[in-house]
Amino acid sequence: EKVIQVGLLGMGTVGSGVVKLLAANAQDIARKVGAPVRIKKVLVRDPEKPRPGLLPDQLVYDVTAVIDDADIDIIVEVMGGEQPAKDYILQALNRRKHVVTANKDVVAKYGRELFAAAEANHVDFLFEASVGGGIPIIRPLKQCLAANKISEVMGIVNGTTNYMLTQMTQHGLDFATALRQAQAAGYAEADPTADVGGWDAARKIAILASIAFGTRVTVDDVYVEGITTIGAEDIEYACELGYVLKLLAVAKETDKGIDVRVHPAFIPHHHPLAAVQDVFNAIYVRGDAVGETMFYGRGAGQMPTASAVVADVIDVARDIRHHVSSRILCTCYEQKPLCPIEQ
Ligand code: NAP
Ligand code: HSE
Repeated sequence: EKVIQVGLLGMGTVGSGVVKLLAANAQDIARKVGAPVRIKKVLVRDPEKPRPGLLPDQLVYDVTAVIDDADIDIIVEVMGGEQPAKDYILQALNRRKHVVTANKDVVAKYGRELFAAAEANHVDFLFEASVGGGIPIIRPLKQCLAANKISEVMGIVNGTTNYMLTQMTQHGLDFATALRQAQAAGYAEADPTADVGGWDAARKIAILASIAFGTRVTVDDVYVEGITTIGAEDIEYACELGYVLKLLAVAKETDKGIDVRVHPAFIPHHHPLAAVQDVFNAIYVRGDAVGETMFYGRGAGQMPTASAVVADVIDVARDIRHHVSSRILCTCYEQKPLCPIEQ
């Protein structure tokens, strides 16, 4: 019986969740795929850290031990950061390994090159977990809403800052304490300045805008303002006026081109986005046929993110099992005009 073998790059918050979920639901996943899915090797950095759920011989410290292993069918990249993650993904695709990643830094910056490599090598390159944590949004946008002309994608796409703003509003926490709690919960990036500075949200809205509008939008095309200057007085002021402060990411088609921005905004208490609290994210998509749709759920955290990663692994494993080649979720771009950024 064919076993689908996985090579995992990284075993931090998300990687550990992937190990747990593949083990906890192994039988069910094997039934859905038609073959068992097993982790063969895991790349990590630190030999001193305990690695629950793994045998010592599964751990490796050199990436070639994973991507040059002929038995490994799928590489799951959950290391984070631009490099060496991007190079490892590219090497894996060029060795005809299917790749699943949660890495928005890499998808937002190098997506075009990586989709081309996947296509040229007839392998899958899937990245559902890169936006919205456990919320299905990449596949719905690319596939389920494909019949629509999309005019707007907007919402709350960063769990760390939404958690922090909720804690600061409801429990009076100061910025530093709220950030520490978000880090302890596993929501923040390794360098949390990407979260609080709005750059994580900018990468995510660039990915969503690229798919929604069938064009290439990079972080450089996004107006970015984070929450670093938000203090207790802003939150109190918002409350007094009947508003809630949220970090919004917005991409919409205008007469001047596609406008993409991330910034804090006052949301009226009665607006549905005001009710999106803690680590939850919500993303509205407006299409000409479907009208408004909203996607809601946990936008960060170990198991919600593992849910999206493992779903991609299952999809790839099914393709391998049924000899279907190359399902790339984002390819054809026609460059459309983008609004200039006004700082
Ligand atoms: P993390 O906890 O910092 O884990 C990173 C893992 O990668 C660690 O196991 C680390 O090894 C390993 N690693 C990093 N650089 C390495 C290198 N150069 N060589 C070998 N191993 C290396 O990160 P995370 O929170 O799991 O996030 C992983 C990815 O998922 C990121 O792209 C992030 O943006 C994305 N993501 C995270 C969440 C979330 O809620 N955390 C949600 C959605 C997407 P050691 O263990 O030895 O240090
Ligand atoms: N740091 C990210 C967030 C993880 O807080 O939303 C999920 O992409």
